[in-house]
Formats: sequence, C-alpha cells, structure tokens
Amino acid sequence: LNIQARDILQEMKPYSPGKPIWEVQEEYGLTEVTKLASNENPLGPSPKAVKAVWDAIGEIHRYPDSQAVRLKTAIAKHHQVDPRQIIIGNGADELITLLSETFLQPGDEILVPLPSFGEYVFGAKLMGAQVRQIPLTEDFDYDLERFLTAVRPQTKLVYLCSPHNPTGTYIEQRKLTDFLNRLPGNVLTVLDGAYSHYANTADFDDGMEHLRDGSPLLVLRTFSKIYGLAGLRVGYAVSAPEIISRILQVKEPFNVNSLAQAAAAAALEDEDHIHLTRQVNADGRQQLYRAFDRLGIRYTKSMSNFILIEAGGMADTLYESLLGSGIIVRRGATWGLPGHLRISVGTTEENVALLSQLEKLWSQLRAAE
Ligand SMILES: Cc1ncc(COP(=O)(O)O)c(C=O)c1O
Repeated sequence: LNIQARDILQEMKPYSPGKPIWEVQEEYGLTEVTKLASNENPLGPSPKAVKAVWDAIGEIHRYPDSQAVRLKTAIAKHHQVDPRQIIIGNGADELITLLSETFLQPGDEILVPLPSFGEYVFGAKLMGAQVRQIPLTEDFDYDLERFLTAVRPQTKLVYLCSPHNPTGTYIEQRKLTDFLNRLPGNVLTVLDGAYSHYANTADFDDGMEHLRDGSPLLVLRTFSKIYGLAGLRVGYAVSAPEIISRILQVKEPFNVNSLAQAAAAAALEDEDHIHLTRQVNADGRQQLYRAFDRLGIRYTKSMSNFILIEAGGMADTLYESLLGSGIIVRRGATWGLPGHLRISVGTTEENVALLSQLEKLWSQLRAAE
C-alpha cells in the first residue's frame, strides 16, 4: 500500500505502559504476580462503585449521557464550583488530547517539565506544536522561575504536575501562587492533579482555590488512581467556563461510557474507601522508606503513591530480575531516567513481596559489582 500517514507520526513514540499481570504470568510461567507499575489502587475499586456498575449494567443498550450531567453535578458539588466549569473525559489522557486539539496549532509552543508524564508531549506533537522541556532541579524539584523565564509569545500551555510523575515531588503552595500571579494572562497553566489525594503535607496546593480567584488555570483529575477505576477510564478537568466550553467543542458526543459515569459518581462519595487508601499508601511509603534506608537504596521522598529509586548501572538487571520473580515495576528509562526504577506503593503484603525479592537481588548485584 502507498498510503502516507502524517509526517509527524514518525517522530511520535508509542506510549509504553506498565506490563499487565497476565503477560508476565504467561512469559515467565508464574501464577503469583504483583503489579507495582501503574500507580493503581492496590485495594481495588470502591465497593460502592462496583455496586453502581451492577445497577447500571441493564441499561447498556442505551447511549450514555453525552454531557455526563449527574457525574458533573456531583463533581461540581464536591469542589464547590459551577458544573459549567467541568468537563469529563475518557481518562485524563483523553482530556490532554482534547486540550491539545482545542488550544494548539503549528507555531504554538508548550512548556513541560523534564522528566514528566509523556502524554503532554504526545498531544502537542499531534497538533504540530513545539515542545520545550524545562528540567526539574537535581533533586527533582520544580524551579518555577525556569518556567517563567522560558515563556515566549508563542507559549500557549504550561504543564505542571503535582505530585509529580515520575518523581513524587510536589509544588509548594507559596511557589504555585507566585507563579500563577506572574504568568502572562494569555498562557493557560494545566495543573495535573492525578495524584493530589496522596499528598499529606500542609503546604500542598491542589490548585482549586486559584480557580476561584480567576487564574488562567485548568486542573486535571482522574478516577484511575485513588478511586480505583483505571479500567473504566474516567477523568475530569476543572477550569473557567470559557475554557471548558471551548474544549467541549472538540469532544466526541459519547466519550465516557455509562458504566464509567455511574461508577465514578459512586466512587466520589465513598469517603471510607478514599480514607483507607490514603492511609494504606502513607503507611506503605514509610514501610518502603525504612527498607530502602536499611538496604542503602537512594530514593526521592514522595507525596504520591509511587517512589522513584536509584539503582545506577544495576537498574536494568534489577528490573528484569524482579520481573522474573513476578514483581512488575517501571523502568526509569521510560522518562529518560536510566538508572532509576519507579515502584508503586502496594498493600503491606505486596510491599513485603517486593522487598523480599529486592533485598535478595540487591545484595547479589552489589556483591557482583
Ligand atoms: C500524571 C498523570 N496524569 C494523567 C494520567 C492519566 O490518567 P487516566 O488514567 O485518567 O488517563 C496519569 C496516569 O498514569 C498520570 O500519571
């Protein structure tokens, strides 16, 4: 065939997700596999969401609500904003694409942190816009001055992610406020809050207050992490009504399926599940820190549900050996951080399974070095 795809596609790398459990089971002939690769909720979905799916399943011959009115109303109430300030997406991923389709064209530019979640770059490239990567500091912190200095007339969007993926670092309230006050009014800041529920420090800022004071800001959220609904694909964005109505122009009518809408509305209200997940995650982080300290493994302190560790020249071998023993983690090379691994925080038992393998492999590898 001689059908040519767009030139830009040659430059675009496909997303490389965490390996699924079934694949590792098949490849390595294992029955017990622990997935600590995609920052999912190790406790599973909210039981209320599961019930909502069963209650809604008999109606799947109907198209879903194209405006997801019930879910939107529930989210608006939750954040005390107007429903016109919200758009629901097929995961936050779809919203990143929609944002790109709405605001970017050739000649435009976006600023993204380096390293960061790959979809920001994907969306911009897809639309023919330029990407400028602004490095985090050596400790993987945000230096927002670097972003401010990088802004040019062609800058349309600035992506910030807090807590940040893949480092777990976060942006302090004081810094975010100062940044938003100083950014030119024609630049939209996209604050990706996929992991905001996990931050348990007083100076964390989830961005919602700034929406109330009229900053040109859009906050992204997902139901894939704390709410445990990654498989259903739901996310949302909160911003000014003028921004949201523009994005709605490019949205497909039935982008979020009816089971996902029902589950998300139920999960949002399930405070017990959210509270328990946060607690298990905070405890799990401490459990992992203690073990890493004991083993002499260097890591970045995380406000999220994953931890980035340093494994230097042993990273690839460690990754492969963990996989062979049924533990799936993520290679830092995915984000341009060879020598690192990103490990999702699991349940206490999952963390023990990881640590017992890690302890064995780490000392073997150190001895062989
Ligand atoms: C920072 C960040 N943003 C967005 C997403 C996408 O979330 P969703 O599953 O809602 O598409 C992820 C998922 O890993 C993420 O890490």
